[in-house]
Amino acid sequence: MNRTVLLNPGPVNVTERVRQALLKPDLCHREAEFSDLLGSIRSKLVRIFGIGLEFDAVLVTGSGTAALEMAVCSCLSEGKTMLVICNGVYGDRIATMVKAHGLNPHSLTYDWGQPPEVSDVEQALKQHPDIEVVALVHHETTTGLINPVQDIGQVVRKYDRRFLVDSISGLASDPLDFNRVGVDFCVGTANKCLQGLPGVSFVLVRKSELARLEALPERSHYFNLYSNHHAQENGETLFTPAVQVYYALDAALDELLEESLEKRIQRYSQAAQLLRKGFQEMKLEFLIAESHRSNTLTALKLPEGVSYKSLHDQLKKKGFVIYAGQKKLSESIFRIANMGDITTEEFQNLLKALKDCI
Ligand SMILES: Cc1ncc(COP(=O)(O)O)c(C=O)c1O
Repeated sequence: MNRTVLLNPGPVNVTERVRQALLKPDLCHREAEFSDLLGSIRSKLVRIFGIGLEFDAVLVTGSGTAALEMAVCSCLSEGKTMLVICNGVYGDRIATMVKAHGLNPHSLTYDWGQPPEVSDVEQALKQHPDIEVVALVHHETTTGLINPVQDIGQVVRKYDRRFLVDSISGLASDPLDFNRVGVDFCVGTANKCLQGLPGVSFVLVRKSELARLEALPERSHYFNLYSNHHAQENGETLFTPAVQVYYALDAALDELLEESLEKRIQRYSQAAQLLRKGFQEMKLEFLIAESHRSNTLTALKLPEGVSYKSLHDQLKKKGFVIYAGQKKLSESIFRIANMGDITTEEFQNLLKALKDCI
């Protein structure tokens, strides 16, 4: 197969079936056919994660950040704030978002790649009764670290607070047991491990939270989680959705149901193992200890004398797109994701190409 293989953490390579779904007939979003499509996506999302009784899916047109902002700006009661756990770009982004909405977050900040301590979270919850919601990134894509969602979720429950999880790069790649973890708001996107196309994202919201959300002041008109949920329960969207991208997501969810969530996670895990074995043989150095690595992203230290740009450009010529480190890691690491519809042969070819380059 002669195509560019995307080893960035989304948007991902999709199947022909998902791509072809874009070519379905033009459709007005105020027609019954769109209500059916919306209902189909919402019900498949909760079915896939086995949470149909307790959760509803609320879709929004926009990248993952759109759904994240919808959750963040819609979940706090007046006078309350959020504890944001930061150990990478995406945790920092949640804190920035909270501030942008005029709310003052508490932050627990760790080095990038360092897992948070449950005892620190517990102490913060004891000290600050104004914390209503704790926010954590499931898979910190900055480094490929899986955060201890379950341990933190338990302490959040113990202190009767709410738990917001950014699982934009974690859903369908690494396990997340919603009820065990005690998630109340989980944010995901179409174009990473669900293998849809960019342009639609979603919040999985615990139904028992909805009555509280209804009474909250509106901090954003477009990104109001409660009113978007209300409209979608009636088969409508508040604003014009990216109809074609919704078609593609629906097809991607059919594929995920056919493959099964367990097998999808297993496929990603096996791909990561194959790649990591190759990286080890090339004596590349990993940023994150094996026990904390996600199933879909490996952060590697740039070898002495190799610049990211030259590595990227050489690999791109060979048909592979790798990904740079962000901000303070931009000069020292590169990242290889294994999300999306990529064959074992393509991963093996990547390893050969990488070996040639370094
Ligand atoms: C954990 C996490 N959160 C948020 C985002 C932002 O998503 P988007 O770029 O789709 O807005 C990303 C993107 O990579 C991510 O990995």
